[in-house]
Amino acid sequence: MHNFNWNFPTELVYGEGRIKELGSIAKQYGKKAMIATYARGGFLDPIIDMVEASLTEAGVEFSTFTGIEPNPKAHTIDKAIDQFKAEGCDLVIALGGGSVIDGSKYIAATGFSGGKAWDYVVLGDRKPREYTGAFPIISIPTISASGSECNAGGVLTNAETGEKSFSRSPYRYPKVALLDPALLTSVPQAITKDCCLDIFSHLIEHYLSSHAESEFADRMTEAMILTLMENFDKVLEDPKNLEVRGQLALCSIFGWSGLQGLGRMGCIPMHSIEMPLSGIYDLPHGRGMIVVMPPYLELMADVLPARWAKLARRCFGVVEADDAVAAKLLSVKVVEWFKRTNSFLTLSDVNIPADQFERMADDVVRMFPGAEPNTTAGPRPVTKEEIVKIYEMCK
Ligand SMILES: [Fe+2]
Repeated sequence: MHNFNWNFPTELVYGEGRIKELGSIAKQYGKKAMIATYARGGFLDPIIDMVEASLTEAGVEFSTFTGIEPNPKAHTIDKAIDQFKAEGCDLVIALGGGSVIDGSKYIAATGFSGGKAWDYVVLGDRKPREYTGAFPIISIPTISASGSECNAGGVLTNAETGEKSFSRSPYRYPKVALLDPALLTSVPQAITKDCCLDIFSHLIEHYLSSHAESEFADRMTEAMILTLMENFDKVLEDPKNLEVRGQLALCSIFGWSGLQGLGRMGCIPMHSIEMPLSGIYDLPHGRGMIVVMPPYLELMADVLPARWAKLARRCFGVVEADDAVAAKLLSVKVVEWFKRTNSFLTLSDVNIPADQFERMADDVVRMFPGAEPNTTAGPRPVTKEEIVKIYEMCK
């Protein structure tokens, strides 16, 4: 097991109807809040109304910014930062999915530290600017996927260059995550599927990308994968079920909290390989993960066969005793699961043409370089040629 530091500083406030407590919670952290959320006109409108009403009732002033997109764009976040400063806000309330919560972290920390949101993003050899602090953040997840509601990470897209990358900062942990499962029941089925399988991708990234052993982390991860799979079936049948939505919300939070990689934190090659799909083509991130996971699992099975085999046996019912054979069965089982839940997708399904694969792979090795030239970080460095091959396999 590797050495590690881990903490979980975000207070998790869980329960049906607890959105009404927002005003009294917000009052403890600021005088004027920016509510950062998606454009009005969708299924969130009544929830935005509830949030505004709760703040008004508690006497907390607010300014609402409604323009954040899925795959949040740096220039949009810069506009939100301008509004945040012009309105004299001192607190960000992130109301939405991972895109809104990620974007809100850049608003809170860049608004405090200065400069533009993109200055702080990790980008190949560039040294990102460092924050000096951040205004407090309250997250209100309306989708369960990224775990962003309780972690310090954040992904941003540069619309001019098609680059999509991330940063982490301890200043950006939300102070409170207000998790009301009733808010999650209106998420449409297609988005629910993308989100659940994004959670799955988080759970398997570190499991499969580190050579370190940590049975505790493995068992925690396996428990979350099994919980996710069971509740994925249930939510497709009964999307309004609060208990099911609550269980999926916990998988989202703890699946990307570091707990799933305690003592064996590795790299995230599948996410790196997916980045151009959502960065250049604006594909919802979870949908991109559905596309790239099966070919990655198939192509890389012989890199860490014991790890692949362990996951196949413990979560997908594989009984094959030989590691090399069991490892190869993991992608087969994952594809069966995706197809059974009507979730399986290819690059042609999402209209990404094969003549762009070289450029996409170039972006991956440039933005997320591995230990050797022309590679990205993985359980062993993943070469540009292998990345192109992965895209070819999901045509
Ligand atoms: Fe993800």
